[in-house]
Amino acid sequence: MLKLIALVSLVATHVAAHGYVQELTLGSEKYTGYLPYSDNLQDPPPARIIRKIPDFMPITDLTRIDLQCGGSPTFETAPAPLVGKIAAGETVHLNWTAWPDNHKGPVLTYLARPPAGVDITEWVPGTDAVWFKIDQFGKEDGKWAAADKLTADSGVWSVKIPENLLPGQYILRNEIIDLHSAAQYPGIQFFPSCAQIEVTGSGTAFPTEFVSIPGVYEPDTPGIVWDIGVEGDYTSPGPAVWTGVA
Ligand SMILES: *[C@@H]1O[C@H](CO)[C@@H](O)[C@H](O)[C@H]1NC(C)=O
Repeated sequence: MLKLIALVSLVATHVAAHGYVQELTLGSEKYTGYLPYSDNLQDPPPARIIRKIPDFMPITDLTRIDLQCGGSPTFETAPAPLVGKIAAGETVHLNWTAWPDNHKGPVLTYLARPPAGVDITEWVPGTDAVWFKIDQFGKEDGKWAAADKLTADSGVWSVKIPENLLPGQYILRNEIIDLHSAAQYPGIQFFPSCAQIEVTGSGTAFPTEFVSIPGVYEPDTPGIVWDIGVEGDYTSPGPAVWTGVA
């Protein structure tokens, strides 16, 4: 029965066709993503480094906790059992399922570090201001991050971990924002994916300003309401990118 329901919802949601991270590579080590349409049928689900999600549907409410790492009113995300390893300065490659061409928008990446003494496999940030942005790409030369750049790069989004980042555990939150119906709010669609990583190295850099998620985006934040039919520069929403360089 469960399988049938999942199959029916898979078929139903395929019409809307969104996506999730199906695989990721940290440096040279490959990990399977959280695969909602098969992992959710198993109890317990297979151990992953990505926090669980219900399906490939978007989050559309800026105030819901699901904006953080995915979820829905009937499905809460939770810490994942595993942690991936990567050296500071190496690149994370996030392999998204096929992204629809008309789902245009930016791709952003945030990090959050658990408080001292709290293991990431137990950590739920809630609405604490712990997040900082390490990467963003909106639109360049008329090409959007999603789907133009993402598709040109075979569905893989690449993000470098700042070279001098303080080592330790982090949640890496990679987010595709779809603006195709964002001409007014509500309308914008968010696809967050939270991977648990352990960054190694001897860096000492750590930011001093943080945002909360939800909280970082409001309906009047630049980049949240946007008509993709209008040409011109786009400003990705949220804080400036922290590069780790003083
Ligand atoms: C992305 O992941 C899928 C599923 O594992 C795989 O078939 C595909 O080859 C991967 N794409 C790249 C560019 O690695």
